[in-house]
Amino acid sequence: MQKVSTVRPPGKKPLAMNSPPALRQIKNLPGPRAWPLVGNALQVKVSRIHRDMEQWCLRYGPLFRVYLGRNPLLVVAHHATVSALLRDRPDGFRRPSVTAFISSEIGGLSNIFMAEGAEWRNQRRMVMAAFAPRAIKEYFPVLVKVGLRLRKRWSDAAAQHASIDLSADLKRYTVDVIAGLAFGQDVNTLESGDNVIQQHLDRILPGISRRSLSAVPYWRYFRLPQDRRLEQSSAALRQAVYSLIEQARQRMQHNPNAGDRPAHLLEALIAAADQPGSAIDNDTVAGNVSTMLLAGEDTTANSIAWLLYFLRSHPEALRRATQEVQALAPDCAAFTLAQLDSLDFLGACIEEAMRLKPVAPYLPLEALADTTVEDVHVPAGTIVWCVLRHDSMDEKNFTNAATFDPGRWLVPRDAAEHATSTSSGISRGIAMPFGAGPRTCPGRYLALLEIKIAVAMVLGHFEIESVGTDSGLPPEEVMGFVMSPGGLKMRLKALIRIEQA
Ligand code: HEM
Repeated sequence: MQKVSTVRPPGKKPLAMNSPPALRQIKNLPGPRAWPLVGNALQVKVSRIHRDMEQWCLRYGPLFRVYLGRNPLLVVAHHATVSALLRDRPDGFRRPSVTAFISSEIGGLSNIFMAEGAEWRNQRRMVMAAFAPRAIKEYFPVLVKVGLRLRKRWSDAAAQHASIDLSADLKRYTVDVIAGLAFGQDVNTLESGDNVIQQHLDRILPGISRRSLSAVPYWRYFRLPQDRRLEQSSAALRQAVYSLIEQARQRMQHNPNAGDRPAHLLEALIAAADQPGSAIDNDTVAGNVSTMLLAGEDTTANSIAWLLYFLRSHPEALRRATQEVQALAPDCAAFTLAQLDSLDFLGACIEEAMRLKPVAPYLPLEALADTTVEDVHVPAGTIVWCVLRHDSMDEKNFTNAATFDPGRWLVPRDAAEHATSTSSGISRGIAMPFGAGPRTCPGRYLALLEIKIAVAMVLGHFEIESVGTDSGLPPEEVMGFVMSPGGLKMRLKALIRIEQA
């Protein structure tokens, strides 16, 4: 089937209907010189593949080809094209089938992230209900409780003048939040010192990502220690989640009305699975609970880490955000949703940090049928690599694009939404840190709340003495499944004495 996309490069006129466009072939596009068999695979490094692609964009333009193996990939960077592709799901494009295959190879179960077509629609409906703002609001007291534990942990570190491993502590925070939301368990990795669950989580998505990008599937012939660890972690997570399902089922049997007012995502999924005619089985329930842990841990933790780094290195923004928090939401123990909603400048800081350091700086898609992207013929099965940061760093869209300038987001929303470019130098809809279209991140509202709670807690109770790396250099962008700031440490000084969290 031939399907013609309506997306054209900016500034190009529609092609006349009676003169069929001369489509370009991917292999004829500009791109880095490729070697036989391996293509450009040896020129990219998985941990910095996002940078390699972005640099090639600057050299070859926003539409070019790369070979990661024998078949060419189409790389696209115009935000309008990227947005149209992301919106053309699940019918026109899917997440790459290789990723779903590799996930199932290590025993990954069906879940919203990997599912496609009708199966995805069914799971998405179910998951969205659990993530609706109303459901998250009910969970707000638990979010604050976990925020207070983070405050306690960091006030202990401040008292000992100890440096905080930002990524590790923030992952404890996000795992504790999601474990509560997803299966009602107070795993309390912040206080227990036990971070076994995190160790498993930390291996799974980066492992799937590494294998998905590997030119040769060597693990099918021999396994390296990292492959054995990946498989063990996947099995351990699966087993832990099955046992949680069993416990939840027993609780629900003792409380027959639990399905009407599910206490957490797991109960909601079990209730949905138990409906006559539901296409949801126990494996799908387990797959989705695991996915929440995986999708919500690193993404949110690293977004917070990048934001703290930017605030510490921009004193004026830090001063303004601190003033705002101390005036409107000074005490983490007394946080309300209304208080957090009122932190407009902090909200702008979050948007700006995500524009400069989106933890998902690219999204790969796979064409489900022969199609056309801009003026390029794209055969079914082609991987289309969407670069999300290129246009966010373009002066045409953001004045002084490389600068952390949260104030640019403070234009009145209605004014900015109708204009692509505003006097304060931003264009909305260009940065897409949560993706776009029907598969946009369902955890967005939860994540933004988690970020606000953690950062407002810091600004309300501590002075940030330093956030940086041991070398004193800016943190490297390290790509695992998401883009994290390499080796970031923080030192805090308590503003007030915190007796008990
Ligand atoms: C700052 C934090 C986060 C960022 C930046 C982020 C970003 C993203 C992005 C870019 C996608 C892909 C969207 C697309 O394909 O268009 C995504 C998908 C997803 N995210 Fe998030 N995410 C965050 C937090 C969370 C949280 C807290 C959860 C849940 C607990 C979550 C669950 C998911 C799920 C389940 C999907 C797959 C949706 C689907 O395929 O239908 N995310 N996220």
